[in-house]
Amino acid sequence: MVGTMKRLRVLVLLHPDQAPPDSTKGYSEQEMLAWKTGYDVLSTLRAAGHDVRILGVQHELKPIRDEIEAWKPDIVFNLLEEFHGEAAYDQNVASYLELIRVPYTGCNPRGLMLARGKDLSKKLLSYHRIPVPAFAVYPKGRKVKRPARLGLPLIVKSLSEDASIGIAQKSVVDTDEKLAERVTFIHERIGTAAIAEQFIEGRELYVAVLGNERLRVLPVWELEFGTLAQGSNRIATAKVKFDVKYQERRGILQGPAEDLTPELRARIDRLTKRICRTLELDGYSRIDFRLTPEGVPYFIEANPNPEIAKLEVFADAAIHDGMSYDAMLQRILSLGMSRAKRIG
Ligand SMILES: Nc1ncnc2c1ncn2[C@@H]1O[C@H](COP(=O)(O)OP(=O)(O)O)[C@@H](O)[C@H]1O
Ligand SMILES: [Mg+2]
Repeated sequence: MVGTMKRLRVLVLLHPDQAPPDSTKGYSEQEMLAWKTGYDVLSTLRAAGHDVRILGVQHELKPIRDEIEAWKPDIVFNLLEEFHGEAAYDQNVASYLELIRVPYTGCNPRGLMLARGKDLSKKLLSYHRIPVPAFAVYPKGRKVKRPARLGLPLIVKSLSEDASIGIAQKSVVDTDEKLAERVTFIHERIGTAAIAEQFIEGRELYVAVLGNERLRVLPVWELEFGTLAQGSNRIATAKVKFDVKYQERRGILQGPAEDLTPELRARIDRLTKRICRTLELDGYSRIDFRLTPEGVPYFIEANPNPEIAKLEVFADAAIHDGMSYDAMLQRILSLGMSRAKRIG
């Protein structure tokens, strides 16, 4: 049901590989991962009465412009996470939509840019005294030297990629030799600069947020690592995130974070809002923390336009907060519409 919202023409932008088939019949959960988000958004918005078209784009802007001029959508549902295969170009697509004056869902280009580099967001937040892991950045070709202020163990990641690309058990290093090895791995195999961060032992918490100026923080969510092999670091590797069989075997689950004191919940809530404001995030985002055994939440990463497929963190947290999946998507649409109105 459309509810209070009028019927909209919605153009869903996504990567061609994310374009969903008509039905999920005959596909395994693992196979569905690539296009599940597109499928859930498309089918839910159609069932709600909206007129929805889907457009796969990757190398050309012209099809976007043509479709917008010909069909005149009320809003673009922006599920694009890259352009020319480059994750950092997501902000340019949002900028383009802004320049051609079409309302779009999710984060504005400045927020996308500020949240993107795993170093930049931490620099901005530490100015506001928000706890972040200490770190060093290693551009490609630079010799790997560990600054004295940075103790071991460290975790080595790509500076700019997400979806745990390049993150495995070996990412956590406890010697200078392993640090150099892993930085070289990121430079050569992932092809980006590397960041080495102080490894924060503790629980993994995710906080979903909806809103432009007024922010609604959803209940704190936790990734539970189940029974990883002996001696494994409890981190969200690519395997932990995307290997369905492995998740089942190891009992890896996500759900509401239990046993947080009301004070800590309130602290995380406030921190999350300050982070969203500092990084100029709007629309919908998810802020990731590591909670130390002493109860200090460290900022790890901000994810503007996070995963919103059914049964993933964002949607589950919304449902837990009394918002149906359908209502959540309508909210994302109306946030896109109201931002465009404000800009005029
Ligand atoms: N400084 C850190 N301390 C402890 N664990 C970390 C740290 N940085 C990243 N991780 C682990 O690695 C995962 C992926 O890192 P993240 O920076 O979120 O990259 P991505 O953008 O690929 O998701 C996190 O969810 C967390 O489990
Ligand atoms: Mg992450």
